[in-house]
Amino acid sequence: MEHIIVYGSRYGSTRRYAEKLSEQTGIPAINCKDAPVLSDKKTIICLGGLYAGGVLGLAKTLRSFSFQDGQKLLLVTVGLADPNEPENRDNIRAYLQRQLSPELLSQAKIFHLRGGIDYQKLSLGHRTMMKLLYQSLRRTPPEKQTAEDRALMETYGKQVDFTDFGALEPIIWEIQRETI
Ligand SMILES: Cc1cc2nc3c(=O)[nH]c(=O)nc-3n(C[C@H](O)[C@H](O)[C@H](O)COP(=O)(O)O)c2cc1C
Repeated sequence: MEHIIVYGSRYGSTRRYAEKLSEQTGIPAINCKDAPVLSDKKTIICLGGLYAGGVLGLAKTLRSFSFQDGQKLLLVTVGLADPNEPENRDNIRAYLQRQLSPELLSQAKIFHLRGGIDYQKLSLGHRTMMKLLYQSLRRTPPEKQTAEDRALMETYGKQVDFTDFGALEPIIWEIQRETI
């Protein structure tokens, strides 16, 4: 059985992580838009950018997936908020719970990476969405803002890139542990 990396990326941060992971493990990386077949794969590594509480491409990629003997699933989210903050990790877990079945989630290994944003490159729809969110957050008392809200406010309108390929290391260890 082979292995596969599937990614959902709108602006490239997740794609770059997926390509680096592919380079370092020799596992092919496929865009989720190309609807790769998963049933014959031993290890499936799914990476997706975080978009307003969802992980891009994840639900569609895993829609008809169910575990077969010996199959492993690694889920990797890429977002702006710092995953070292427990509050951010809790939020991402809650998003995953909304998108995936408890069976999938309980058997998957979950990792979080940090991406970036360049407001100049956002689509009009995304720019408008972020503007509305920013305006509403500015009216929110600081004690009611979450760590994710603060990350959005600090980076609003800017170009920031928190990509850290070193953060792929635990994922590579896990893949090697699974594929030996
Ligand atoms: C409309 C929009 C919504 C976003 N929502 C979140 C979010 O809920 N949590 C988060 O951590 N980052 C959020 N981000 C930041 C993206 O996750 C970040 O830019 C990521 O690197 C995007 O991955 P990509 O470049 O592969 O598309 C959002 C960005 C946009 C434009």
